[in-house]
Amino acid sequence: MKVLIFGSKGYLGQNFLNLYPDAIASSADISDPALVRGELETHNPDVVINAAGKTGRPNIDWCEENKEETIRANVTGPLIILDECRKKKIYWVQLSSGCIYEGDKGGEGFTEKDKPNFTGSFYSRSKAMIDQLLAEVPNVLILRLRMPFDGTDNPRSLISKLKNYSRILDVQNSITCLSDFMETAAKLIEAKETGIYNIVNPGTMSPYEIMLQYKEIVDNSYECTRLTLDDLPDVVKAGRSNCVLSTNKIKNMGIQLPSVQEAINGSLKELAENQN
Ligand SMILES: NC(=O)c1ccc[n+]([C@@H]2O[C@H](COP(=O)([O-])OP(=O)(O)OC[C@H]3O[C@@H](n4cnc5c(N)ncnc54)[C@H](OP(=O)(O)O)[C@@H]3O)[C@@H](O)[C@H]2O)c1
Repeated sequence: MKVLIFGSKGYLGQNFLNLYPDAIASSADISDPALVRGELETHNPDVVINAAGKTGRPNIDWCEENKEETIRANVTGPLIILDECRKKKIYWVQLSSGCIYEGDKGGEGFTEKDKPNFTGSFYSRSKAMIDQLLAEVPNVLILRLRMPFDGTDNPRSLISKLKNYSRILDVQNSITCLSDFMETAAKLIEAKETGIYNIVNPGTMSPYEIMLQYKEIVDNSYECTRLTLDDLPDVVKAGRSNCVLSTNKIKNMGIQLPSVQEAINGSLKELAENQN
């Protein structure tokens, strides 16, 4: 299976490159049709993975001030990949986000069929629009993850990001352990599945709970205070999605991810070992 990865230098792009070491690693601008076409013509891949996108630095607040660039990367680019892959009948994968929902849907969690209901940030609006468009066309696998974390000190891991904040939100959320995500993505890609898949670990945790465990397992000198949803607008520019996604679809396919608590515990232990 010949794999081509757009956005191969990013956090998820690098992880896909680890998963498929022989993949073609592209840094082509996905909003340029000639460049995308050129990559497909040169390499003739069986599978294209779109790991390119604007996620903002230091965070999604960046997207509020850079809307045109955000649209180019998060909407125009995937539409160009869609068109070029359609012409060559290439199966492709879009990395979507669970940050297009707010709430827990009465405790059930949002399924792949639920319409996005969070409009509080431009980043989320851009991701929701393309997610919903691609959901209606064949030949595309849409993988939704949330606040990915791993057992390394990669600055893009949720645990590393939270370490930089002194006030941490105490709201229950779905989150994604990156190694579990990659393993699940590999299975779905191998089977050439299409449509939307929520890939989060079952159960919920709040970022504050994660960092209390961080203090216990990794660094007992770490200190933070609890932030409530009411206080959130004091510290961020754009709204933040807090939500719970249903994992029933992948579970019904026989794919069982470890619980959020197990996954966080494992990553924190790995982090503690890496630091010694
Ligand atoms: N990490 C998360 O929390 C998360 C959660 C859910 C979904 N996702 C989605 O997963 C995808 C990858 O995210 P990530 O965390 O790996 O982000 P990342 O580390 O910022 O990587 C994205 C990569 O895409 C590149 N890029 C930006 N605009 C591009 C364009 N027009 N053409 C080609 N490459 C472009 C970026 O380059 P520059 O750095 O030069 O811009 C960067 O190398 C995004 O679509 C994101 O929305 C991420």
